[in-house]
Amino acid sequence: MSTITYLDFFGLKDDPFRLTPDPGYYYPSREHTNALLSLDYTLTNREGFCLLTGEPGTGKTTLLRIFINKWQSSAEIALIMTPRLSPEEFLQAVLEDLGVIYPLSGNKNDMIKEFRDFLLEHAGNERRVVIIVDEAQQLPDETLEELRLLSNLETEREKLLQIILVGQPELAEKLAQDQFRQLNQRITVRAALTPLTERTTADYLATRLLRAGAPASSFFDRTALNTIHRLSGGIPRLINLIASRSLMAAYLEGKPGVQQHQVLFASEEVLERKQRGDWKRRQSFWFWLIAIGLVVLAILTAGWVVI
Ligand SMILES: Nc1ncnc2c1ncn2[C@@H]1O[C@H](COP(=O)(O)OP(=O)(O)OP(=O)(O)O)[C@@H](O)[C@H]1O
Ligand SMILES: [Mg+2]
Repeated sequence: MSTITYLDFFGLKDDPFRLTPDPGYYYPSREHTNALLSLDYTLTNREGFCLLTGEPGTGKTTLLRIFINKWQSSAEIALIMTPRLSPEEFLQAVLEDLGVIYPLSGNKNDMIKEFRDFLLEHAGNERRVVIIVDEAQQLPDETLEELRLLSNLETEREKLLQIILVGQPELAEKLAQDQFRQLNQRITVRAALTPLTERTTADYLATRLLRAGAPASSFFDRTALNTIHRLSGGIPRLINLIASRSLMAAYLEGKPGVQQHQVLFASEEVLERKQRGDWKRRQSFWFWLIAIGLVVLAILTAGWVVI
């Protein structure tokens, strides 16, 4: 006897709300599209540095996957995902990712010489060389300085290397500090990912459901959608978490679609207390405001009747 799963129940071929940065589920919101254009521009125009920032869960790593897929056949790309590295370790990781053979001495000058030769070779054949650092807010200060020095590798006419720094908003704040003035001035392309709006949250959910093979674009009614947007603040990772648990709650109730109460139930489980607290505080603020308004209105009306 076969048991019917949650995915079968909704006619889905795949889990639509996995938390991995899967390019197959990419939703090109306006902000994501603009950010992708900025990344493309950095490579096309051989800009030195590009900075991409966004709150956790807004889709930075997902966007990088899309960007890398697009450029991997026409550029040499080093992707550093764990940047808590000393300058030497960082350089080694870059060279290894690019497939550059370097002397085992571990001597930084030797490594930089090999790297420069590699850059010149590719400048000749028009291939871009790019270093992408994800989670760049974790780069130690000395390694950031090393990156600035690497970006000085250039000919009289053009930069030999493009560097893309991706991280949370505190990265931009860090780079604005006086000690990083020189690096900050070299950042010529800046992009920021912001949370989804109420309308794009609904589109985002519909897109993911359709990609997962859903027979209908949405299982969520209007109030459910509105509540998901409000509770997640439009952050895709939180939208996924809440939507996934809401679908599960609907499935457990044997309901073909999600309503607000399932979303509220799901968010109780998946959101941190603080986020729920903010939402409840906002709700109780409006409750008390309306209640006080009604009492004042009643008093005024009673006074008017007496007169
Ligand atoms: N534009 C998008 N299209 C489809 N899914 C997205 C999009 N943006 C974010 N997501 C989804 O949201 C989740 C978090 O995305 P991602 O890991 O890219 O965020 P991030 O900004 O890199 O977060 P962090 O700062 O924590 O590293 C993933 O499940 C991803 O699939
Ligand atoms: Mg990320």
